[in-house]
Amino acid sequence: MPIFPFREDLLRAITQHQILVIEGETGSGKTTQIPQYLMEDVRLHSRRNEIGCTQPRRVAAMSVAARVAEETGVKLGNEVGYSIRFEDCTSERTVLKYMTDGMLLREFLTEPDLASYSVVIIDEAHERTLHTDILFGLIKDIARFRSDLKVLVASATLDTERFSCFFDDAPVFRIPGRRFPVDIFYTKAPEADYLEACVVSVLQIHVTQAPGDCLVFLTGQEEIEACCEMLQERCRRLGSKIAELVVLPIYANLPSDMQAKIFSPTPPGARKVVVATNIAETSLTIDGIIYVIDPGFCKQKSYNARTGMESLIVTPCSRASANQRAGRAGRVAAGKCFRLYTAWAFKHEMEETTIPEIQRTNLGNVVLLLKSLGINDLIHFDFMDPPPHETLVLALEQLYALGALNHLGELTKMGRRMAELPVDPMLSKMILASEQYKCSEEVLTIAAMLSVNNSIFYRPKDKVVHADNARMNFTVPGGDHLVLLNVYNQWVESGFSTQWCYENFIQFRSMRRARDVRDQLEGLMERIEVEVVSSLEDSAITAGYFYHTARLSKGGYKTVKHQQTVYVHPNSSLFEEQPGSFTNTLTPSLACNCQVIEIDSGWLLEVAPHYYKRRTRTMTLLHKLKSDVGGKETCESSFL
Ligand code: CDP
Ligand code: MG
Repeated sequence: MPIFPFREDLLRAITQHQILVIEGETGSGKTTQIPQYLMEDVRLHSRRNEIGCTQPRRVAAMSVAARVAEETGVKLGNEVGYSIRFEDCTSERTVLKYMTDGMLLREFLTEPDLASYSVVIIDEAHERTLHTDILFGLIKDIARFRSDLKVLVASATLDTERFSCFFDDAPVFRIPGRRFPVDIFYTKAPEADYLEACVVSVLQIHVTQAPGDCLVFLTGQEEIEACCEMLQERCRRLGSKIAELVVLPIYANLPSDMQAKIFSPTPPGARKVVVATNIAETSLTIDGIIYVIDPGFCKQKSYNARTGMESLIVTPCSRASANQRAGRAGRVAAGKCFRLYTAWAFKHEMEETTIPEIQRTNLGNVVLLLKSLGINDLIHFDFMDPPPHETLVLALEQLYALGALNHLGELTKMGRRMAELPVDPMLSKMILASEQYKCSEEVLTIAAMLSVNNSIFYRPKDKVVHADNARMNFTVPGGDHLVLLNVYNQWVESGFSTQWCYENFIQFRSMRRARDVRDQLEGLMERIEVEVVSSLEDSAITAGYFYHTARLSKGGYKTVKHQQTVYVHPNSSLFEEQPGSFTNTLTPSLACNCQVIEIDSGWLLEVAPHYYKRRTRTMTLLHKLKSDVGGKETCESSFL
């Protein structure tokens, strides 16, 4: 590994400097080796204190921890462990902890000077996730008075000068990479269907090219699963005419035993194809890759400051990303990268680098956290790249509307309690409001189900009709949150049965995770002294999500506050539903409007009187409209 010869130099540099930026090609050993060096080095590491290493992705934290535990011959969770949201795999004995950047951020709440750490490694710094960016500011600040704390900022070969500059000209330690040449091929014309193009390219490589494994970059779970299925199907049809093709997916929600498979060696005579999200761009290194297929897209969070809604959209990746992807082909030998776009598109349609997340996301969560840490002046926080002013203002406004901040922008008692829960402000408000409505049992379940929601219903390609019928059976009036509640409650009644999940096309693993999350949230509720009681009351959900409400008017749904058009996701149980006589309200969770419920507009005035004002005196005045869609009669209330 490229880092091996530099062990002593590196350790010396770390002894000499408090903050060190480490730059090295992906796969050079930064993540797996440096923490081990530190563990072994008595100069740097007193056994009392922990070494923390942050990762932007959950999967990376888990898989790297597992790898290092194996390399050091300890059981995962003992000396080497990991900590990600809702899952703590550490113990009293843990010396080296891999964790998501979000987890370290939350640790500031309980330990503002990170006293239990002797070394903090901010890894994958080039990813510039929101949490990593905030960590930069906070850690730079505490390093000033904790002279015993060592800070390492590790990054792929991108942007390291900027990190050095931000950390008061901290020295940069470069690990020289060896990289084999990678030939890059472009398509002559743009591809209409990049998924199909990927499948064809893989098969072409498999049939025409010399041995060597293949890595395909797609944007998310659905695409990856589709691609894997298509590949397997076509290989089945070709039968013994072609050599064995081992097709392996990797994405964040993939169960960890499946994730581990990508690292197992390819059987002789076969070829391995790993179909990955951009997690394989820099966070995970798979040995033996010679061919890379890059359609040039990634899923990116984008934030609409007008609607206050976040969405994940598939966009062209940056040139920096494309080059990282190509680089994955040249680690073990000369490689080839097939770009499924034109050379012109690379030059003219792609951005130079990816915009840091802090500039395209909702800041509600982070603002609440910073306020809880007593950082009131956010405008002057030491951001590496400051967020847009209007996003910051909107976050403050939203927290004010939720009752987390008072009119002076100071944290309220509600805000302090909200910050205790490791979920988005709207979700935490929903949970806390449930106390007042005496329905915390139900709301906890809904919150837990929302946190795993994208993978509850199982819909295999060959049993689509059965799966959809099974799903329909869970439909209850009111909307998706109540459907989730219904699913969970029935599962509880079945005695948490695996068989029941199987028969109802429900993913057992997701349910088990939901139960875990629910238990943990319940524990936190006790800590902040919220009584957990039961009844059925939708207002609590509205109390959290009133910000995201829409009503049906001519032609479709428009947000109540800003009149932006929004759509109900086809997966929603309300997708085809024509509304009854009340305002319909959407409470989108996560990125799209997958989860919506129907609400009574009166509730909005009840839960957020400061936010929604009564326009006319008559609250129940309804007038009829002819709807454009389907010609059915629908109603619109006119008072908000
Ligand atoms: O962090 P950096 O990109 O510099 O490298 P690393 O993640 O520490 O990986 C170093 C080496 O360990 C690579 O050759 C990986 O392929 C290997 N590795 C592995 O084989 N299995 C894992 N689960 C993790 C890393
Ligand atoms: Mg790494």
